[in-house]
Amino acid sequence: MKQMTQQNLINAFGGESMAHMRYLHFSNTAQKEGYPNVARLFKAISHAEYIHAGDHYKEIKHLNGGFVANSMGAFGPGDTYKNLGLGIDGETFEINEMYPTYIQTAKFQEEGGAVRTFQWSLSTEKEHKRLFEKAKTAVDNNKDVELVDVQVCSVCGYTLEGGAPDKCPICGAKKEKFVTFEK
Ligand SMILES: [Fe+2]
Ligand SMILES: [Fe+2]
Repeated sequence: MKQMTQQNLINAFGGESMAHMRYLHFSNTAQKEGYPNVARLFKAISHAEYIHAGDHYKEIKHLNGGFVANSMGAFGPGDTYKNLGLGIDGETFEINEMYPTYIQTAKFQEEGGAVRTFQWSLSTEKEHKRLFEKAKTAVDNNKDVELVDVQVCSVCGYTLEGGAPDKCPICGAKKEKFVTFEK
């Protein structure tokens, strides 16, 4: 595998792994602060980041040993309002800078598997950002967010509100592949 794309996969695995962990902590905080729907949203999105990390990890299974991961991390946890802001910042970086750059590099280097896993993540992060913004508006008004069931595709991490689609619009996985975070 080309070195730049390989390093980008390592970095993306690091970034998604941290996001997964960060959102679990944010979920606990939201639950304690009396925002059960925000807590459920963080939990669902945490699961999507776990799927993303796993998809990147599978693309570098040929590696053997320790490597340094250089990835964006949103540090300084606070209350739920601040945590939602950190979530939005992280997703925005991934949408505007990280994944578009990684995708262009992987395309240039003809690393198809990396292009696919980066594109799956990019498609999902846009929805994560939108959901966090909706939750932040509610919390800004001291209200929990209104949120129906949240679905996460266990193949590509795609996240949506409502019922599971017959086919994942991003990766084509069947309905049964969706994990539901129930209202
Ligand atoms: Fe995300
Ligand atoms: Fe999917």
